[in-house]
Amino acid sequence: MGNRTTTVREVIGRSPRGGSAATWSGLAVCALALTGLVANALPVPTDPGPVRAGAAAEPDPYCSPGSDAADTAARAAHTRVADPGADAAEGVEVTPEQAAEYEDQLREALVPLRGHELAPPYTVPVVVHVISAEDGRGDVSDRRIQEQVDVLDQAYRGEYALGSEGTDTGFRFELADVTRNADDAWFRDFNRYRDTIRSRLRQGGPETLNIYTTELESGLLGYSTFPQDYPDKPSQDGVVIAHDTLPGGERDRFNEGHTGTHEVGHWLGLFHTFQNGCRSPGDYVDDTPYEREAAAGCPKGRDSCPDLPGEDPVTNFMNYSDDACMTHFTQGQTRRMIEHWVAFRGGDARV
Ligand code: ARG
Ligand code: ZN
Ligand code: CA
Repeated sequence: MGNRTTTVREVIGRSPRGGSAATWSGLAVCALALTGLVANALPVPTDPGPVRAGAAAEPDPYCSPGSDAADTAARAAHTRVADPGADAAEGVEVTPEQAAEYEDQLREALVPLRGHELAPPYTVPVVVHVISAEDGRGDVSDRRIQEQVDVLDQAYRGEYALGSEGTDTGFRFELADVTRNADDAWFRDFNRYRDTIRSRLRQGGPETLNIYTTELESGLLGYSTFPQDYPDKPSQDGVVIAHDTLPGGERDRFNEGHTGTHEVGHWLGLFHTFQNGCRSPGDYVDDTPYEREAAAGCPKGRDSCPDLPGEDPVTNFMNYSDDACMTHFTQGQTRRMIEHWVAFRGGDARV
């Protein structure tokens, strides 16, 4: 293959798990938990009605840390929905059946965690793998990599939100390592070589976010695996983004880093806001209104499911709007990401 792979170790003050908890007082964590952020082992819905709001079980008043049940759950019987190499599992298009299967796997993984506290913050170590051309195209600078991680951190803290819509998801992101890989074939044809590339380069366990930057075919900004894919294909776990979508990139309208924000949403278990269109259960999140199809540009005020409540969530990170249009995740999405974290990625829940 003739690629030159150099690993640049630049461990930037990675704190121990949950180490950046400074802004979260114990009280806040407990209060958050008491509002319903407790692992609920809901029975697998047989009728696909809308997912219930805060279908909360009894909150644990002691705010106990999790247990190694998360560990067990992460290894529990997950049957794969699709090959991670298949487009469906890479965030391109998830069929209603695949979405339902992912949901079943989530609910099943949460069963042994019932009653365990979901206690953010969760600090996610990030490893960025730069795939570039041998002439230097796509060799994004350390500064832009750090800016991308900063965008992630701020987006998941709710700092792009306008007014009261925003939610601090409790996820924090810290750059742990950068690898630089100059290889014309890999850069030009990433998707063809991606299984090899990812299994050669991937670092860490399910809690480590591996981001690959590369050239992607025109129109493709990025894609991701889902947490449920991890047990069967750990080496393929991660997010792929076009190098020109990083902050300061050349990609028109998509160069503020929110392709990263969006793909990491998939990596933490979120579907698109337009998943299942106007049909229940939509995106399996009850505070994102239904939406018939992806938004483009920034069509604020659009209402593509007029018979259902709410205008389209066009400013949500899990839509397809322009970066400048995207501002937030909702509480429901926050809950869903935390459920996936505890069920499949588990960092902080392992004691
Ligand atoms: N189309 C891509 C996906 O489905 C990414 C969309 C990102 N949107 C953005 N404004 N950056 O995962
Ligand atoms: Zn997507
Ligand atoms: Ca919804």
